[in-house]
Amino acid sequence: MGRLIVYGGNQWGDEGKGRLVHEFGEDADVVVRVAGGANSGHTQFVDGVKAVTHLAPSAVSHSRARCFLGNDMVIYPTGFEQEITDLTAKGFLRCQQLGVSRLAQLVMPYCLDLEKFREHARGKAAIGTTGRGIGTTYEMQVRRLGLRVTDLLHLEQIRAYVKTILNEINPELAHWGGQTYTVEDIMTFLEQARQILEPYILKEPLSKIVTQARDSEQNVLIELAQGPGLDKTHGTYPYVTSSCTLAGGACSGAGIGPTLIDEVYGVTKAYCTRVGGGPFPTELDGDLGEEIRARGQEYGASTGRPRRVGWHDGPQTRAASRVGGLTGVVITKGDVLQGINTMVCDYYQQGDRIIRDLDELDTLDLQDVQPHFQEMGSFDNDISGCRAFEDLPKAAQKLFLMISQLAGVPLVAISVGQHKGQTIIMQNPWRD
Ligand code: GDP
Ligand code: IMO
Ligand code: MG
Repeated sequence: MGRLIVYGGNQWGDEGKGRLVHEFGEDADVVVRVAGGANSGHTQFVDGVKAVTHLAPSAVSHSRARCFLGNDMVIYPTGFEQEITDLTAKGFLRCQQLGVSRLAQLVMPYCLDLEKFREHARGKAAIGTTGRGIGTTYEMQVRRLGLRVTDLLHLEQIRAYVKTILNEINPELAHWGGQTYTVEDIMTFLEQARQILEPYILKEPLSKIVTQARDSEQNVLIELAQGPGLDKTHGTYPYVTSSCTLAGGACSGAGIGPTLIDEVYGVTKAYCTRVGGGPFPTELDGDLGEEIRARGQEYGASTGRPRRVGWHDGPQTRAASRVGGLTGVVITKGDVLQGINTMVCDYYQQGDRIIRDLDELDTLDLQDVQPHFQEMGSFDNDISGCRAFEDLPKAAQKLFLMISQLAGVPLVAISVGQHKGQTIIMQNPWRD
């Protein structure tokens, strides 16, 4: 009878969303990436070969799926072109359709420039952004100075608007000592963007496509980007990205009401990682952190930066699961912890105060809380061959049940390796 399932991260990004969307997207008719841009790097293995998607949904290699870049995405046209070229060269672009919502915003060259100048000027207080013009493009959107994909279909009409934009942006670029732009520069950029994107621009509203798919009982999968710790409102502000990364954001990004959502699955690592600045209460600084980083290949899929590594953060999971409205949790990368005496943080202490939910505290308070850990023990066997919960060693079972308890929702799947099929499926997502 078809369902609409949202897959999102439940930490600070890089939880393995791409791998799960690739696996479960095989049975989806429609797959929508709703927000963010090329700050994302979603890894999947297609026929055993690695592919990283930044803008395209992680199900583009499935022939059944119609794949869409959603309303709240920010798209740098030549980045999109590069990604499509790479996917095509590898033979991975097999989906029925790849479409781009007309409402998505364009990342403009000055958005990239401004981000670079501002991050540099912040010095030690820099956010540690991916440098893809994400924040500055969303800023232009809410300033009512953005350019949308739909504008590419009205290039002659928007010339005056481009002038208005430059009247505001050029003085700021000059202030930073940067290059300014002429209307002709921008019109040339937009003309090139039109050539790249036009074949993909949706004629119909994405909202209508997704709603009609659900009305005709098709399977719809929504792929979120980043994680709740990076949400512009609920994350560790200001060390966040600039979009809504929560399941709630799926509504605007796909153009649907919340009543259409059947399930919200939060993907979480058995431990935790974070890239860029900002508080990370359970961070591991020493050799153990290094070891987990090396074993888990914890290097950014977009920027190659080493990811900060720490133990699973229960207060973060509790808060994220609540704000995201999870109905199930998917745990990844437990296999990385083989032979390691694993800890899970169940609460923080701040003096005499016990804090169970991360969002009880402000970002500044998070710098100096004491995480309290529960020992989960270690398991010696390789779990990547396990396909049933009962096959797992007791210590691994204990760890996964603890995380599910912290999330307050059932385990729906456990990923035990990078590859499709290396999964313990507790509940088939497409069946009741
Ligand atoms: P995303 O941004 O949430 O899609 O995650 P990334 O692709 O940025 O990072 C997740 C990394 O973990 C990728 O290299 C995946 O191939 C890898 N991965 C995902 N699930 C598992 C798992 O269960 N075990 C192991 N060892 N690696 C995994
Ligand atoms: P996926 O979808 C991990 C982080 C950056 C930085 C902050 C703001 O692969 O999980 P931005 O460039 O968005 O303005 O940077 O957010 N960040 C991510 N960290 N995974 C991501 O995406 C991220 N996207 C942004 O490192 O700290
Ligand atoms: Mg990633």
